[in-house]
Amino acid sequence: MNATFTAMREFFSLPAVEKKQYEAKSASDPIKCGNFNVANTSNQIFTLWRDYLKLYVHPDFHCPHKPQLLREVLLEYSQRTRKMARKLVEAVSDALELEQDYVDQVLKLDSSFQMFAANFYPPCPEPDQAIGIPPHTDPGLFTFLIHNGVAGLQIEHNGHWFNADSPQNSILVNAADQLQILSNGRYKSVKHRAVVNSEKERISIVVANGPAGEAVVGPAAPLVQKDGHPLYRSMKYVEYVESQLTKSRVDGKSLLEQQMI
Ligand code: OGA
Ligand code: NI
Repeated sequence: MNATFTAMREFFSLPAVEKKQYEAKSASDPIKCGNFNVANTSNQIFTLWRDYLKLYVHPDFHCPHKPQLLREVLLEYSQRTRKMARKLVEAVSDALELEQDYVDQVLKLDSSFQMFAANFYPPCPEPDQAIGIPPHTDPGLFTFLIHNGVAGLQIEHNGHWFNADSPQNSILVNAADQLQILSNGRYKSVKHRAVVNSEKERISIVVANGPAGEAVVGPAAPLVQKDGHPLYRSMKYVEYVESQLTKSRVDGKSLLEQQMI
């Protein structure tokens, strides 16, 4: 985890011209970096205060050439987190009384689609006028988040925002959209956002652990049988990820809400 922070810090301090080559050309670029100043999510305009690097790291591993150590460090970080995600998925399938085979098969976990993101939030002179990341839920099954000891993550519960002050050397685990869909609503994808502050720079490192891109994800058949009906439409995971990246909200609804039947 420390090596990952060190490598990311080095990446963010590369000269702008070097980072520019990784600027997103399309939403599905496997390597994207940038900083957006304004985002319009339906009816709210936010000033965003964030630099980011987003990488597709599994089944194909993509990574910038610099800094030199990045490749090795990220390969290991992504492998280890993938293992952890798989254990959590096994535990969840146990808890849902699904056969382990079933989950492995429908989600095709050997070729799970894993995304890595590093967020860099510089100190912001007017933190009330800006946001690090606007409210959203993550795609995938489980998201893991670590940070450099500076608070900023908030989660929504019953319409209120709460600070999620996880200890510095811990991994915070969030349930994500495909877990909610697969479990036919038993697990809730956590709505969250990142706020900024005027004093300290913050770095967060996030891995979104998903099913395979080719896996068609819908409510698990045995649960649908129990519940009498599916609560969500099925969709190929890669299509879900790409729609989330490219399409804006429809009638103010997130993609997860649009999938509800
Ligand atoms: C994300 C995210 C929160 C944070 O990258 O999806 O929610 O605290 N980040 O940086
Ligand atoms: Ni997120």
